[in-house]
Amino acid sequence: MHIESLELINFRNYSNITLRPINGLNVIVGENAQGKTNIVEAIYYSGSLKSYRTFKDRELIRWGNDKAYIKTEIKKQNNTTKIEILINSQDKKGVRINGSKNIKLSDALGILNVVIFSPEDLKLLKEGPSVRRKFIDNELNQIRPKYHHALMQYNRVLLQRNNLLKSVSNKSSLKAELEIFSEQLAEYGSFIVEARHEFIKKLSMIARLIHRKITNGDEEIEILYQHDGTYFENKDQIKKNLLNNFLNEIDKDIERGYTLKGPHRDDIIIKINGIDARIFASQGQQRSAALSLKLSELELIKAEVGEYPVLLLDDVMSELDINRQKHLLSAFKSIQTFLTCTTLNDINAFHFDNKSVFSVKEGTITRQQT
Ligand SMILES: Nc1ncnc2c1ncn2[C@@H]1O[C@H](COP(=O)(O)OP(=O)(O)OP(=O)(O)O)[C@@H](O)[C@H]1O
Ligand SMILES: [Mg+2]
Repeated sequence: MHIESLELINFRNYSNITLRPINGLNVIVGENAQGKTNIVEAIYYSGSLKSYRTFKDRELIRWGNDKAYIKTEIKKQNNTTKIEILINSQDKKGVRINGSKNIKLSDALGILNVVIFSPEDLKLLKEGPSVRRKFIDNELNQIRPKYHHALMQYNRVLLQRNNLLKSVSNKSSLKAELEIFSEQLAEYGSFIVEARHEFIKKLSMIARLIHRKITNGDEEIEILYQHDGTYFENKDQIKKNLLNNFLNEIDKDIERGYTLKGPHRDDIIIKINGIDARIFASQGQQRSAALSLKLSELELIKAEVGEYPVLLLDDVMSELDINRQKHLLSAFKSIQTFLTCTTLNDINAFHFDNKSVFSVKEGTITRQQT
C-alpha cells in the first residue's frame, strides 16, 4: 500500500499543505524544528487515529485555531481510499472514509498500516516493559480491530477496578463488585494474552532469519512473550488462570491500591544466543536487535494483510552505523518510505532509483528538483 496524497490544514505548524509522495523513498530534509516529525506524526495518525507523541489530540491543532484536518489518500492494489480526520479542541475527532461519515472509528483503523522507526525504538530493549508492550499493542491494534476493542475495554475495566481498590479498604460489601470486575478483566485479558502470544511467536520466527543476516550469522535471536503465571495455549485456560490470579490477589491489591498482576504487567523477553539481551547485550547488539524487530514487523504485516505497510523513519539514520544503515535501506526497496533527516549527507552514500526529496522550512514543504 502507499499514500498518494496527504493534505494538512492547521495541523501542528502547518497551515495548509498538500504533499504528493512517490511510491518509493521520500526524503524529508530540513533543519531542526521545521516540521519534519510533524509530517511523520500526521501519517501515523491517519493509520492509527492517535499520535505516538501525545495523548492530547488538541496539541495537534495549530496554535490559535480550533480544528485540525488531515486527509490521506491511500492506494491498495487498485483501490484508492480517502480518510479524512477532523480534530477539535475538545479532543474529539470525526472520521470520514470516502466521504462517508457513517462509520465507526474502528472501521478506519488498519486501512493504512504504518511501521514507525524512531530513535526511541532503538531503546526498545533497554527501556521498561511498558515500551515493549506498546510495541506489540500498536501492531496488533492495526492488524486486528478486535484487539483494539479488547484492549480499550481491558484498560477501562482496569481503571474502574483500581479506583474501587482504593476506596474499598474496610467495606467488604464492595468485594463482590471487585469480583465482577475481575471476571471482566479475565475475559478481555485472555483475549489480549492469546493474541500477543501468537503475534510474538510469528514475529520471533521472522526475526530469527533477519537477525542472522544483519549479524552475518553470528547471532541467533529469540523473542518470547512473558506472561505472568503459567501460559496455556487455550484461551479458556488463560482466562481461568487470569481469573484465579485476580481473585487470589484481591487482598494484596486492596493493600496496594491497584491491580498487581495481569497482561498490563507482561513483557517480551529478547534473547541473543540464548541470553537475555536486555541485561547482557552491548549497545550495538541492542541496536541490531531493535532493527531486526522493526524489519520483522514489516514482514509480519505483509504476511497478515497481504501488503507492505508504509514505513516511517524519523531521525534514525544518524543513529545507526553504516552497516546497519545498509541493512535498513536495502530492506525497503519495495516499501513506500518517509525518511527524515537534517542533512542529505545521511543518505548520499546510498543509491536509490526511486527517490524524491522534500525540503521543509517553517511549516512549508517543497519538492526538490533532482
Ligand atoms: N500545535 C502546534 N501549533 C504550531 N506549531 C507547533 C505545534 N506543535 C508543535 N509545533 C511546532 O512545530 C515545530 C516543528 O516540529 P517538528 O517536531 O516537526 O520538528 P522537526 O523538523 O522534526 O525537528 P527536529 O529535527 O528537531 O526533530 C516545532 O518548533 C514546534 O514548536
Ligand atoms: Mg523531528
